[in-house]
Amino acid sequence: MGEDNASQAVSAALSTVGIVGAGFMGSGIAQAAAAAGLSVRVYEPDGRALERSRRRLEESGEQAVRRGRANADDIDALLGAVRYTSNVEDLHDVEIAIEAAPEDLRIKQGIFRELDELLPHAAVIASNTSSVPIAELAAHTKRPDRVLGLHFFSPVPVMRLVEVVVGLDTSRDAVSAAEAFAHALGKTAIRTKDRAGFVVNMLLVPYLMAAVRMYEQGFASREDIDVGMQLGCGHPMGPLTLCDFIGLDVLQAVCESLVGEFNSPEYAAPPLLKRMVASGRLGRKSGGGFYEYAQELAAVGASL
Ligand SMILES: NC(=O)c1ccc[n+]([C@@H]2O[C@H](COP(=O)([O-])OP(=O)(O)OC[C@H]3O[C@@H](n4cnc5c(N)ncnc54)[C@H](O)[C@@H]3O)[C@@H](O)[C@H]2O)c1
Repeated sequence: MGEDNASQAVSAALSTVGIVGAGFMGSGIAQAAAAAGLSVRVYEPDGRALERSRRRLEESGEQAVRRGRANADDIDALLGAVRYTSNVEDLHDVEIAIEAAPEDLRIKQGIFRELDELLPHAAVIASNTSSVPIAELAAHTKRPDRVLGLHFFSPVPVMRLVEVVVGLDTSRDAVSAAEAFAHALGKTAIRTKDRAGFVVNMLLVPYLMAAVRMYEQGFASREDIDVGMQLGCGHPMGPLTLCDFIGLDVLQAVCESLVGEFNSPEYAAPPLLKRMVASGRLGRKSGGGFYEYAQELAAVGASL
C-alpha cells in the first residue's frame, strides 16, 4: 500500500477527536475538525473560556451563513459535531487528542499523564506546542510511540500548514495517522524533527525579532516597518502586526526555547518585547501590543 493509500485508510478510521484547552488555538482546531465532518470533544477547565469558545464557533457559523458560504443546516450539523465539556473523562474514547493548553511545561506534562491514563492504547496524543520538546511530553506517558507534535498555525481555519513534529520514539504509524488527520482537515503537513522552532519558527523568529529591535531602536515607525515588508516583499502582513497576531507571550516562549537550544543571539527576545509581556500587552488577544485592537475584534477568531 502506498503512503497516500495508507493515509487514506487511517483517515477513514479517524473519526473522534479530543481537544484539550479551548483557547485561541484549541477553538480553531475544533472548528477545523468539525468542518471536516469529525466528531469533536473540547475539554477546557475554565468555564468562561469554554463558553467563549462555544460562542466563537456559533458566531463564526452565523457569519458564514450571512455571507452565503454555508447554509443553516450545515452550520447546525457543524455545531452539533462539537461537544464542550469541563470533564476530561468525556475524552475517554477519542482516537486522537490534541493538547492546546498554555505554553507551560508542567501543565502540559500533567495533561499528557492524564490523557495517557484515560485514552485507548491506540490513540495518538499530540501537542500543539510551539516550543516544548515532544520528548519532554512523551516521557510522561507509557506510549511514547504514539506521541508527537501537531503544530497548527493561526488562524487555524484559514492557515493550511501543519508541522508534524516527530519525536525520537514516535512510530511511523502515528506519523501516518497524524498526517491523515491533517489532510482530513484540508491542511498540508510537513515533517520536522523534535528541535526548538521546528521548520517555520526557526526561520521566522530571527526576522520578527529583528523587526522588534528595529522599532525599539527608533530606526523606523511601526507602520513603516510593516508596510516595508508588505509592499517590498509581498508579505500579507508586516512583522509587528504578525507579532501581535501570534501573541507576544507565545513568541517570548519560542525565543527562550530557541536560545536554550541553539544559544544564538539572533533568537533572543529584545528587552521591549519582554517588557510588553510583563505589562500584559500580549497583542490582539489582550487588546493591545504593537498596535491597539478593539476588544471585540481581539476576541473573534477567524470565520469559517
Ligand atoms: N497563539 C498562536 O498563534 C499559536 C500558534 C501555534 C501554536 N500555539 C501553541 O498552542 C498552545 C495554546 O496556545 P493559545 O494561544 O491557544 O493559548 P490560550 O491561552 O488562548 O489557550 C489556552 C487554554 O488552555 C486552558 N487551560 C489551562 N490549563 C489547562 C489544563 N490543565 N487543561 C486544559 N486546558 C487548560 C486555558 O484556560 C486556555 O483556555 C500553546 O502551546 C501555544 O504555544 C499557539
